Amino acid sequence: MTITKGTPMTTPADILVVKGLEKTYFSTEPPTTVLQGIDLTVATGEFLVVMGASGSGKSTLLYCISGMDRPTAGRVELQGRDLTSLTDAQMSRARLTTMGFIFQQAHFLANLSIRDNILLPALKATPKQAGAVTARVDGLLARFGIAAVADHGITQVSGGQLQRASICRALATEPAILFADEPTGALNTSVTAEVMDALTAIHRDKTTIVMVTHDPACAARADRVVYLRDGAVVDARALGAWTEGEARAREDEVLVWLRGLGF
Ligand SMILES: Nc1ncnc2c1ncn2[C@@H]1O[C@H](COP(=O)(O)OP(=O)(O)O)[C@@H](O)[C@H]1O
Ligand SMILES: [Mg+2]
Repeated sequence: MTITKGTPMTTPADILVVKGLEKTYFSTEPPTTVLQGIDLTVATGEFLVVMGASGSGKSTLLYCISGMDRPTAGRVELQGRDLTSLTDAQMSRARLTTMGFIFQQAHFLANLSIRDNILLPALKATPKQAGAVTARVDGLLARFGIAAVADHGITQVSGGQLQRASICRALATEPAILFADEPTGALNTSVTAEVMDALTAIHRDKTTIVMVTHDPACAARADRVVYLRDGAVVDARALGAWTEGEARAREDEVLVWLRGLGF
């Protein structure tokens, strides 16, 4: 088969296909090449983790595959649609309607309640469905255990509650894919487990997740882990499905693998 420009690289089983992704920052002298030709495919419903040392390009990769930044070269196809060919307005719309984002910090608006912060992007995505959006958000608040603090301000809740609120905000638009950059990076161990339990539950509901982390215990929750070094994928490990009782052995497996990579 001849692949011509515009022919989708994606099969229905793959939600995201990345080919030859490169990113160079020209703001430095000399320019810094941060991503050196990355090929990556994410299956629909997969939980993929990206690991690597600090500065290896994890965040840059996440930003380039989620339309937050533009790659210097290469192609990113989400649900068969080439993101690199979209205008800024089309990209904003695609991000709002098909992607969810969770960061290390919640980036909530200080003058709004937790509930209104969660509602805001979903109402922007589908303004004519305010009733359905509000009902969905109420369901998410209850599911993630923060209904009681929904009307609180963002300084009146704990770090764990705030991060669960970020998860609610990301899910409120019913995204096809969830991108998370170090979502537990600012949390202590017990709150980290709480947030990872929430992400694991979302994954079991068949939401596709791409998560950057430096925490091997978090990585052990994934179906597959890819390892970046100097902007290139140097290794990957498929972990597959798991049950509660296998969590510890799985963490050990990931740790041994990472040590072998010099992590
Ligand atoms: N806007 C920028 N301009 C120049 N260099 C950058 C910029 N953003 C990131 N970098 C560099 O790119 C490399 C990868 O950064 P990043 O993707 O944030 O790594 P990670 O998330 O793995 O820690 C680092 O060396 C960083 O200094
Ligand atoms: Mg980073």
